[in-house]
Amino acid sequence: MEPDLSVGLRNWRLASPVIAAAGTFGFGEEYAELYDLAILGAVVTKTLTLCPRAGNPQPRLWETPCGLLNSIGLENPGIDAFCQEILPRVLRLGVPIVVSVFGDDPEEYGELARRIPPNVAALELNLSCPNVPGKSPVLAPTEVAARVAAARASWSGELWVKISPEGDYLGSALAAQDAGADAIVAVNTFRGMAIDLERRAPVFANVMAGLSGPAIKPLSLRIVYELCGVLHIPVIGCGGITSGRDALEFIFAGAHAVQVGTANFLHPLALPRIIREMQEYLRSQGIRNIEEVRGCARKR
Ligand SMILES: Cc1cc2nc3c(=O)[nH]c(=O)nc-3n(C[C@H](O)[C@H](O)[C@H](O)COP(=O)(O)O)c2cc1C
Repeated sequence: MEPDLSVGLRNWRLASPVIAAAGTFGFGEEYAELYDLAILGAVVTKTLTLCPRAGNPQPRLWETPCGLLNSIGLENPGIDAFCQEILPRVLRLGVPIVVSVFGDDPEEYGELARRIPPNVAALELNLSCPNVPGKSPVLAPTEVAARVAAARASWSGELWVKISPEGDYLGSALAAQDAGADAIVAVNTFRGMAIDLERRAPVFANVMAGLSGPAIKPLSLRIVYELCGVLHIPVIGCGGITSGRDALEFIFAGAHAVQVGTANFLHPLALPRIIREMQEYLRSQGIRNIEEVRGCARKR
């Protein structure tokens, strides 16, 4: 018998602990042509804002050893165009859809949450985008609490909060939990930069960009391990996962599920492979249910 990969979150059960991360999977439609998305726990949409955004100037991507710097700048069609034109199609893909949103202040998060129809599986608050000109990705815990509370007041469904790996991330996660989050997604990208020697200038117009990919995995794993020691709501690990063994490290550290981003760019079939590798490991160890091993690597 295949090992059971389903995992229970607070209010729903995911068919699989592997979730497509925001901004790296579009709205899922291109990937649905390659494989059956029902094998995933969920797809998180690219982040949506109240008004459409054109995003940052080129270049937007820069490869580093074992990593990727991006400065997309939240290019998106805006929440209303998404809800009217794209969401009805995406809801037919056969996988739970999590809508990611970003606002400039608590009121915008409240407004965005009000516009999301109740038939999406969850709302994910992006409180951590490093690529918005003039905005710091690092919020104080009080600012996190205000944004989560505003969204919570107008959204009664499952609410995920995606935090920055920088600043007081433990305080921010605790503040999000107290303000009504159902799960913490940890983490978004780390701020980094690159300099173009020919132009003698930063590669990115916004100078800083977000670092993702295998380079950040030990850092994001550390943060997930720490968060799982202090939170009582589920943690969804994210950052640098490219294999089933990577994903299992996060589960063993205490995460309920994982999100995978950059690996989708390295190979479009990365997610089915990661799920297969997790199953192979569990089968080889005689583990019938992934929930048996959640947190097994934590010091008691
Ligand atoms: C090109 C690119 C675009 C991204 N866009 C978003 C986004 O719109 N919203 C968001 O919350 N995170 C976004 N992220 C961050 C990822 O969802 C993820 O948190 C981060 O890349 C770390 O995971 P990874 O190493 O598996 O990619 C983006 C990452 C990349 C590489």
